[in-house]
Amino acid sequence: MLPADETGIAEAAAALSAGDLVAIPTETVYGLAGDARSGTAVARIFEAKGRPSFNPLIVHVPDIAAAQTYGIWSDTAQKLAAAFWPGPLTLVLRLRPGCGLSSLVTAGQDSVALRIPAHPVALALLRAFGAPLAAPSANPSGQISPTLPAHVADGLGGRIAAILDGGACGIGVESTIIGLTGTPTLLRPGGLPVETVEDVIGAPLTQWQDGDTLTAPGQLGSHYAPKALMRLNAGAARPGETLLGFGTSEGAALNLSRTGDLTEAAANLFDHLHQLDRTAQRIAVAPIPEHGLGRAINDRLRRAAAPR
Ligand code: TXA
Ligand code: MG
Repeated sequence: MLPADETGIAEAAAALSAGDLVAIPTETVYGLAGDARSGTAVARIFEAKGRPSFNPLIVHVPDIAAAQTYGIWSDTAQKLAAAFWPGPLTLVLRLRPGCGLSSLVTAGQDSVALRIPAHPVALALLRAFGAPLAAPSANPSGQISPTLPAHVADGLGGRIAAILDGGACGIGVESTIIGLTGTPTLLRPGGLPVETVEDVIGAPLTQWQDGDTLTAPGQLGSHYAPKALMRLNAGAARPGETLLGFGTSEGAALNLSRTGDLTEAAANLFDHLHQLDRTAQRIAVAPIPEHGLGRAINDRLRRAAAPR
């Protein structure tokens, strides 16, 4: 565990330069970072996560100039980057040929997912390291995303060089992913509300459809699965169930937000699932409104509840 100070950041940068992996705080969830130019480092990420190898990874950069080095820029990319970077938005752009990224990081596709994280520690590390970082969420593949250093240690302890301790992640769900290789398309709802993105683009986003070419495997059925069985939109717990509440739910073991605040619920989501999953056999989840961050929360919950 490295402290998030100058020394800790320098040590993390040195580990990354040696091709090792470091878990890093971002404003969304903890990322498992490796040098995005190094096939070995990227392979180690897949290995540590046990992640299916067809999943391309998000490449993190410190500024728009760096993003333009790896992705082919467009007017829409500029609009969205100017409005929301640094922040919980990932843009999928056409890959700039010969840009130096490992082909493993894009899973051999001719597109690249790029984002500038809004976290001072992540940005300081990107600047100290001086190169792009591939960083999927720092959890074993298919399990709950980590929002605390302890979650990372639980899931990946012993398999990675270090964890940079930046405390709790503020947003608690992953970035919203927008595909810009054709008509602007929502590939994954996330920490930036879809409506906010549409306001800036000035048009509705195309929705990714089941059955379309699988370009964002975060959309696989049971990607975010706890070990417990899950039942959604539950008014109350049935015998043998543990209730994850929202708003005024009664008899809940934990409540995502007693005041019905979706931002607070998103920040609590993965931590509460982690906590309940330690003891519960069956988790019943109270209804969550389907707007703003509620869409991202329900997306995660549906995957967690999907047949597996
Ligand atoms: O908030 C986040 O985005 C976190 C933090 C650590 O930055 N990262 C994260 O990464 O969620 P990951 O690897 O768990 O999710 C990346 C998603 C996957 O569903 C992946 O398939 C998709 O982005 N993706 C990556 N490159 C893509 C590409 N070229 N085209 C389409 N989807 C892509
Ligand atoms: Mg993930």
